[in-house]
Amino acid sequence: MTKISRLKNNTIYFDNSATSFPKPPAVVDSVVEYMTHVGANPGRSGHRLAAEAGNIVFQARKTISEFFGVKSPMNVIFSSNATDSLNLSVKGVLCQDDHVITSSLEHNSVIRPLKMLEEKGIINITILQGNDIGIISESELDAAKKNNTKAVIINHMSNVTGIVQPVKEIGKWCKKNNLIFILDCAQSAGIIPVDLKADNIDMIAFAGHKGLYGPTGTGGLIISDSFDVKKMSPLKEGGTGSMSDKTVQPNFLPDMYESGTLNVAGIAGLAKGIEFLNNMPEKLKSVQLHKNTLQKYFIEKAFKRIGGFKSYSAPSGLGVVSFTIDGLSVSEITRKLSDDFDIMARQGLHCSPLAHKRIGTFPEGTVRFSFSVFNTITEVDTALEALKMIRDGK
Ligand SMILES: Cc1ncc(COP(=O)(O)O)c(C=O)c1O
Repeated sequence: MTKISRLKNNTIYFDNSATSFPKPPAVVDSVVEYMTHVGANPGRSGHRLAAEAGNIVFQARKTISEFFGVKSPMNVIFSSNATDSLNLSVKGVLCQDDHVITSSLEHNSVIRPLKMLEEKGIINITILQGNDIGIISESELDAAKKNNTKAVIINHMSNVTGIVQPVKEIGKWCKKNNLIFILDCAQSAGIIPVDLKADNIDMIAFAGHKGLYGPTGTGGLIISDSFDVKKMSPLKEGGTGSMSDKTVQPNFLPDMYESGTLNVAGIAGLAKGIEFLNNMPEKLKSVQLHKNTLQKYFIEKAFKRIGGFKSYSAPSGLGVVSFTIDGLSVSEITRKLSDDFDIMARQGLHCSPLAHKRIGTFPEGTVRFSFSVFNTITEVDTALEALKMIRDGK
């Protein structure tokens, strides 16, 4: 195998659905700024630095609530990642004998908490299969609904194929049937605009470290202005810096769900990641256009140049491409991409075994290229050349 030598900064990173890299410089700068000049714990002490830390967190809440169309910044609950937020919503909302509807394209961050509750005899689950690519319909929802159905939990954008569920229609259906609608926006946040009010969504779980370009260890749950918080119990209790004379958990947002010291450095970076998106010429439209250009180019050229190439994602998608090459294992492809060409991609099931069962790629999985706004056509061309060489055994 010919080894293409690269400078470190010529590394090609196509694993942005796992976490985006690189981050915009302002994200890195704000983390360093907080760590160097502020450093204090927000909401705990009365001194100047604690107030500055509190202001960083509040401004970030404001930026995030505006980004997702929520009036109150206090409805933004910070967490460590999308998994954390999904666990809070699943375990906080679902009670004994509740029924929940979900889809075959869910990540294990949804399926595993649900299955754990099911195994304990607490809830029942219906997993909708959707059409041949997993998109669910109103008639399927109608057929799944029971008298004890409490919530619908759906992955907005598949981390395996990139397909997007019809959120507006699902939201309308949930509202009509008086059900709680929880949307997993781990992949869609920062790519597809989401408006909780307009789309009748009760809460969205997001990862701060993927399409929002924040640091790892950031994420959150955004609760709609109209959601009654009595319907969701906290997952953890503890110190909030508020009502310290009381030995019971505060019952107001965000403290109710936000015990323990926050990741202020990460939150500072996350706010800058969102500002970076807000400052793009046409905001998320620019992001979509860029990612779709790379995706379409990659899929179309790969079909022509690489024998045995199979794509499980559409050329019209927004930067998530799952593929296989006949005769080569997915782990062999990504190992060679990394070792011989310095191209970072992910192989396997991407924590979504049910999605692979749905699209027929279980248990081997796929290779996944996931693009960010920093990737280029030149990088895609390099990857196409690398895949061709791997395919030809050179
Ligand atoms: C659809 C989906 N949901 C949830 C998650 C979990 O995100 P996190 O790693 O931030 O916990 C992921 C991660 O890839 C995902 O793709």
